[in-house]
Formats: sequence, C-alpha cells, structure tokens
Amino acid sequence: MLEVSSCMKVSHFSLRMFASLLVVTLGLCYCRTDSNQTFLGIPQLFGPSEALLGEIVVFKCVMPNHPKNESVLLQLYNKDNDKRLGESTSLSGEAGTFTLLIKLSHEGNLECLARAQNNSHTMPTVSRTHHLRVVGQVELSEDENLELLCEITAGNHVSYKWQQNGQPISPSPSLHLSDNSLFISRTTSENIGYYTCMATNYYNQTVFSTSTSPDVEITVEDVVSAPDISFTVLKEDSYNYSAVVTCESTIGTLPVTFSLYNRTELVANVTSDNRRAIFKLPLVLDQYSGELQCNADNGAQVAHSQWVPLEVVSVGGPVTMHYDSDIGENFAVIGLRLYCKVAKGSHPRYQWFLNKTLLHDKGSFYYVVDQPPEQSILLLSVGRSSAGTYHCQVSDSFDNTTAISSWEQYLDKEVLNRPPVYVVAVVFGCFTALILLVSVCCIGVVYNRGLEMERRVVAYEGELDLREYGEDAGVVRSARGGEFDQTSEASADEWP
Ligand SMILES: *[C@@H]1O[C@H](CO)[C@@H](O)[C@H](O)[C@H]1NC(C)=O
Ligand SMILES: *[C@@H]1O[C@H](CO)[C@@H](O)[C@H](O)[C@H]1NC(C)=O
Ligand SMILES: *[C@@H]1O[C@H](CO)[C@@H](O)[C@H](O)[C@H]1NC(C)=O
Ligand SMILES: *[C@@H]1O[C@H](CO)[C@@H](O)[C@H](O)[C@H]1NC(C)=O
Ligand SMILES: *[C@@H]1O[C@H](CO)[C@@H](O)[C@H](O)[C@H]1NC(C)=O
Ligand SMILES: *[C@@H]1O[C@H](CO)[C@@H](O)[C@H](O)[C@H]1NC(C)=O
Ligand SMILES: *[C@@H]1O[C@H](CO)[C@@H](O)[C@H](O)[C@H]1NC(C)=O
Ligand SMILES: *[C@@H]1O[C@H](CO)[C@@H](O)[C@H](O)[C@H]1NC(C)=O
Repeated sequence: MLEVSSCMKVSHFSLRMFASLLVVTLGLCYCRTDSNQTFLGIPQLFGPSEALLGEIVVFKCVMPNHPKNESVLLQLYNKDNDKRLGESTSLSGEAGTFTLLIKLSHEGNLECLARAQNNSHTMPTVSRTHHLRVVGQVELSEDENLELLCEITAGNHVSYKWQQNGQPISPSPSLHLSDNSLFISRTTSENIGYYTCMATNYYNQTVFSTSTSPDVEITVEDVVSAPDISFTVLKEDSYNYSAVVTCESTIGTLPVTFSLYNRTELVANVTSDNRRAIFKLPLVLDQYSGELQCNADNGAQVAHSQWVPLEVVSVGGPVTMHYDSDIGENFAVIGLRLYCKVAKGSHPRYQWFLNKTLLHDKGSFYYVVDQPPEQSILLLSVGRSSAGTYHCQVSDSFDNTTAISSWEQYLDKEVLNRPPVYVVAVVFGCFTALILLVSVCCIGVVYNRGLEMERRVVAYEGELDLREYGEDAGVVRSARGGEFDQTSEASADEWP
C-alpha cells in the first residue's frame, strides 16, 4: 500500500501545510451487512460536498427508523483512510451532528455508521458514501516563490506527476519540477489554480498503486502599482479654497487602501474598490503648505507615490504674446505659432481670442496646444479666415474672475508678409545710394572706384529681402516641411 501526503511550502511566508493523505484502500470494510433482520434502519448522511481547508462544517446523520427506547451510536468515518471523524449518540431519534474543522485528511468518501448501543444482537448499518472534496488554499502575492512538495508517508519506488486544474504541468523557465517537488519562481496570475500531485509506484514494471493528493488552490494577488498623485483647486466661496487630491493606481488586486501623508502625519485614509481615492483638504492660496504623498496598500504590497508640494500660486501679470512663423516656397508666411505666457501662476487657464471671440481647442485653421503651466501655443495656418485681431487671456483654472489679457495684435497675410519699416528704409536707402552712385558714375568721376561699388551694392540688394528680413524680424526660417516645431528658439519679436 502506498501512502501519500502533500505538503506545501510557500517560501516567502514559510507557510507549511500538511496534507494527510489519501490511502488507497481497496479492501476496507466495516463488516457491513444487508441483512433484513436488522431493525436498525439505514442512516442518511448529509453535508457539503466541498469544503475549504480550515473551514468549520457540520455533517448530520439521520436515522429514519430510530428504534424506540434504544440508544444508537452514530459514527462518522472516512472510508478512504479508515479514520473516525466523529461520534454522536442518539436516544430518541434526533440526528447525530458532527462538527468538523476541515483538514486535508477529511477528503474522501465519508460514511455514517449506526450501532445499537446496548444490543449486541443487532447488526450495525452504514449510510451511503458521501464524497467530500477538501480544497487547500494558499494566497500569494505576485512575484513570490511557491514550492509544493508531494510527501509520501509510506512506499518506495515512487514516481510523481503534477497537475494544474486537471492538466499535466510541464516545466518552463519559471516552473521547475524535480521528483516530488514543484517550484515556481515569481508567481503570476498564470499560476492560479488547483494543484494535485499523483504518486505511483511500480512493481515488476506494472502499476502497483496510485494515489492522488487533495487539491491545493493557489491564488495570486496582483501587487498594487505606485499611485499617481495630483490635485486640483476648488473655490468654495470667495474666501475659502480646497485642494482636491486624487490618488490613483493602475493595477492591483482590489480593494486598495489609500493613505495620504504629509511629512509628519497621516492626513486621511480611505479604502477604494476602484483603485482611486479623492481627498479634500483646506487650502490657502499663495502659501506653501508642505508636501503630500499617497500610499496604496492592497495587502500584497504597499506602494508610494511621489511627493508633491501643496502650493497654489494665483496668476499674476503681465501676460505676453509672441510668435514665430513658417515660410512657404514662395517666401510667404504660411503658418504661425503664437505663444502666450504669464509671469506667475501654478494653475493657469489659457484662452485665445480672435476678434474677441473665444477660440476653442481647434478649428478649421487653428489648433491650441496647452503646455500648462508654462505657456499655451496657438498654431495658425495663415489664410483669409485667420485674418483678425488676436489676444490671449490667462485666469486661474479654479477662478475665472482673475483673468488677465495680453496685448491685441492684428494679423493677416499682408501684415505678415510686409517687410518691417527698417527693412524698407534700408532697401530705400540702398536704392537711393545706387541712383546716386549711378549718377556719380555717369558724371564719370572716379570711374573705376564707382564701378566697383556698384557691383557690391547690387549684390547686397539681391540678398536683401530674404536675409535681412529673416535675421532681424525672426520671420524667415528655413522651411520645415510644414511641420510645427515647438522647440524652436523663442525669438525676440514680442509685440511692442
Ligand atoms: C423504555 O425503557 C425503560 C427502562 O429502560 C422502561 O422502563 C420502559 O418501559 C421502556 N419503554 C418502552 C416503550 O419500551
Ligand atoms: C446501556 O448500557 C450501559 C452500560 O452498559 C448503561 O449504562 C446504559 O444506561 C444503557 N443504556 C440504555 C439506553 O439501555
Ligand atoms: C513480472 O511480470 C511478468 C509479465 O509482466 C511476469 O511474467 C513475471 O512473472 C512477473 N514477475 C514477478 C516476480 O512477478
Ligand atoms: C469660509 O471662510 C469664512 C471666513 O474665513 C468662514 O467663516 C467660513 O466658515 C468658511 N466657509 C467654509 C465652507 O469653510
Ligand atoms: C485610517 O485612519 C483611521 C483614523 O483616521 C485609523 O483608525 C485607521 O486604522 C486607518 N486605516 C488604515 C488602513 O490605515
Ligand atoms: C501635517 O498635517 C497636519 C494636519 O493634518 C498639520 O497639523 C501638520 O502641520 C502638517 N505637517 C506638515 C509638515 O505640513
Ligand atoms: C476679424 O475682424 C476683421 C476686421 O477687424 C475682419 O476683417 C476679419 O474677417 C474678422 N475675422 C473673423 C474670423 O471674424
Ligand atoms: C466663470 O465660471 C462660471 C462657472 O464655471 C461660469 O458660470 C461663468 O460664466 C464664468 N464666467 C466667465 C466670465 O467666464
């Protein structure tokens, strides 16, 4: 006979579970009889067919034909290993109750045996078998190591097979099988399931006996990810503001308890079943109120957010606007980037206006790219519909009564392509000089020198509208294939 028990060891917890075992018993017998002469009826056994390890369950054994005035002894057996699990005496027909703290040895075919206590002449009777499946449960965190051992209590020349959810387990880089042990390094949700081991011994190359361990259920908890922390500001009334702090983790088995700390103490905590917690704290504007951190804990792990300073600076002027541009093939301005910046403010809201009409996120000829809190960029394709007067406005995102406006600037194709006044002046000046020189040359004074100068000036004029315009006005840039490049150097062309 082969006796098997299974022992599980979770290395991290040094948890040890001993499973007693399953004995393959073929010839176990209680000297049953089917004799008609018995006046003890057949008892009936009631109870769960499945129980968790460590759970308390109640089995009942009922005698339908309880003999009158006769005390009956009721016993609960596990037929598979011949263990007596409980005993109860019934005098006047009440059911025998058996309260069990479930162990692995309880798995098997249970029977209730009834015996007349003071009458050795009556034959005992046995109920029908009732199968009980015992499920061991081990809860692991992700990344822990798991070792399952299949221990035999008797027998030799044994070979072992492992199954997960009834399927044979094959080795993999993270799953190692050796003889009677199964080792999983860094468990993941793939390792969730019911594990059994099967021990077989052979004699003269034929299976002599086989025994299967009870199921052991492995559950794996996903560790919670480090939470993100952010806050927005809420204006309660004209005097009071609140910080609405959001802590959010992306993964992790639920529920998750979030705790909010400042540098000295726990500020608040809450248990969440959606991996997100919201805390509201009183806030004073323009004052540093320390730092905050969120902790997320789901039992498997405690994860920390970064520290964020709790400081809200309200917006303050001036609000400035400047632009740079993209030049098409014919040297005309085809695209503009308008930048809006505010001198101070931690939670600014930027708004763009054309002809005093608010421009939303995007339209047929424009696109707003917010880069809070530093700036907002308005990308424009220059055309007929983009003509008009532009300005931007900045307010606190939590209080739109604090708006500050920039200068207004009229922009259209003509304005953008018109060379600046000083360029015109230079061109005009050169042109005048040229005429003068030509006149001088016509007069024929200093003939050679005049000719030389003329060549120089003509060359200069040829480059003029491009080079001068570009360097000084910041408008001419090498064409970038129409792509907006937001990292281009900020040019010095703020509006006067
Ligand atoms: C039950 O047993 C008691 C004593 O054992 C006896 O006095 C009584 O008469 C019995 N009753 C019946 C109904 O047999
Ligand atoms: C059964 O026998 C025992 C002693 O053998 C006695 O103490 C008990 O009272 C008896 N019970 C009945 C119900 O006859
Ligand atoms: C071993 O098995 C073979 C057939 O499988 C049989 O002929 C032989 O007698 C067996 N030996 C013993 C020692 O049982
Ligand atoms: C707002 O502030 C005023 C005075 O500072 C105070 O009396 C009032 O209770 C506050 N209201 C709230 C909702 O905190
Ligand atoms: C949450 O805070 C309360 C007190 O504010 C405390 O009693 C409790 O233990 C905390 N819970 C956790 C999970 O930290
Ligand atoms: C932390 O918060 C408590 C109140 O919740 C406050 O009394 C304490 O000053 C704060 N500590 C820091 C460093 O901000
Ligand atoms: C804005 O106003 C100007 C006149 O100041 C007008 O020419 C232009 O078409 C207007 N633009 C839009 C988009 O309304
Ligand atoms: C300011 O915000 C409130 C509520 O969000 C809104 O009702 C109000 O019209 C806004 N005022 C301005 C000037 O935008």
